[in-house]
Amino acid sequence: MKENIPIDESLQKLYSPSDFRQIGHQLIDMLADHLDKVQSQKELPVLSYKDPEEELAYWKEDISSDTNMLDFYEKILERSIHVHHPRYMGHQVAVPSVISSLSGLVTDLLSNGTGVYEMGMASNALERIVTDLVAKKIGYGSNSAGFLTSGGTLANLTALLAARQAKAPGSVWEDGHNEKLAVLVSEEAHYCIDRAARILGFGAEGIIKVSTNKMYQINTSLLDQSLQEAKSKGLTVIAVIGCASSTSTGSYDDLETLATFAKHHNLWFHVDGAHGAGVVFSEKYKYLAKGIDQADSVVLDFHKMLLTPSLNTALVFKEATESYKTFEQKAQYLWDSQQSKEWYNSGKRTFECTKLMMSLKVYSILRMHGEDIFEKNIDRLYDLGKVFAQMIKDRDGFELLIEPEANIVNFRYTNTVLEDLNAFNSEIRERLILSGKFYIVQTMIGDQRYLRTSLMNPLTEKEDFMALLDEIEIIASSL
Ligand SMILES: Cc1ncc(COP(=O)(O)O)c(C=O)c1O
Repeated sequence: MKENIPIDESLQKLYSPSDFRQIGHQLIDMLADHLDKVQSQKELPVLSYKDPEEELAYWKEDISSDTNMLDFYEKILERSIHVHHPRYMGHQVAVPSVISSLSGLVTDLLSNGTGVYEMGMASNALERIVTDLVAKKIGYGSNSAGFLTSGGTLANLTALLAARQAKAPGSVWEDGHNEKLAVLVSEEAHYCIDRAARILGFGAEGIIKVSTNKMYQINTSLLDQSLQEAKSKGLTVIAVIGCASSTSTGSYDDLETLATFAKHHNLWFHVDGAHGAGVVFSEKYKYLAKGIDQADSVVLDFHKMLLTPSLNTALVFKEATESYKTFEQKAQYLWDSQQSKEWYNSGKRTFECTKLMMSLKVYSILRMHGEDIFEKNIDRLYDLGKVFAQMIKDRDGFELLIEPEANIVNFRYTNTVLEDLNAFNSEIRERLILSGKFYIVQTMIGDQRYLRTSLMNPLTEKEDFMALLDEIEIIASSL
């Protein structure tokens, strides 16, 4: 065909710089107003909860409405939870800093695939800088290296794949495994560890959950016994995993003792620091993760304690070479040799082939605010946890589960004649959410239900805790 094929105008419009400029400017103004509003007008709802079917019906109708995109974004804002609201105290999602969100806009326009160097020169270089910083803060030496990947769940699975490669007999990657493999972990570990072990083919028996002490930290005095029991059942334990911190209560396992145990028994030592490994940036709180430098691998979510939009996770290895052994597949179309260990083809070591340009969102925070900002955020949020815990203890009718080590505070309201405290506290939470005034979550500790807050927003203040406790009393008195 000699002649040029005419391009459909609508395809051309997809990439219109003037649309980008016009909608973009309006959108930025709208988002800036939104930020201003949710941060300053606390009476506005954190969440305007709708039933899922109602929400679905709404959007089914919306798709055939006019093409005004600003209206669409306005509706999205109305119908989403607002993590920037100081009364957002729910799940462990960072309140993204402005600069990291703006970097997100850049990365979504550029869409560099990042798994191979040519498809992300800057993003791979920035990734190296960001993960080198994490390794340095952990206390690793010059042999360490890491990469960014899509979330703590995937990072933990990737780390355990490396552990299996390093510690399982034979080459599981090539030959599968005949042995029954297992890992040791606290019963309070995030459910993704259980999933990872099952995905790795370890089965239910292969995830050995060790009981915890009164602070919900792994009971290290049970480790030897758990290992012996596993051996007597014919299991080959390959790794021990420390929580830094656990999800429900924010408890830090004794990483030093776990490290010694792992060394003694030639096990891989992995630390799931998705939530709390950020303390390595804090002079005040880094003691909580003492021993983390002895881990073979560490997971840290930037999108939890470190001001970055989801998802954005570092997986760092004490010995870089271990991270290259995880996936030994040949992918000739991507790189010349699977054997070479170049840091800049990050896809060699990650599940993802095409990968988001995550590093920009972290690097931009470091560039604009310096690494101290991570320390300030951690210190503020962990300090707030202590302030809130004290207020709960000082108030009649409220019961604090434990003194929080991190920014996760569990409590319940007990001032009632109703016998079922679990149902009572559940009802309180439900009404709180429907009111839109606060967003908190709940958790089961044993067979007891607790109200659970993760203090993620550095703009949350004592006054917000006071208002939350007042509101709980008001709701409780109406039940
Ligand atoms: C301790 C811990 N590990 C892992 C995860 C899973 O991380 P992600 O949500 O980034 O997949 C979480 C999430 O809350 C967590 O708290």
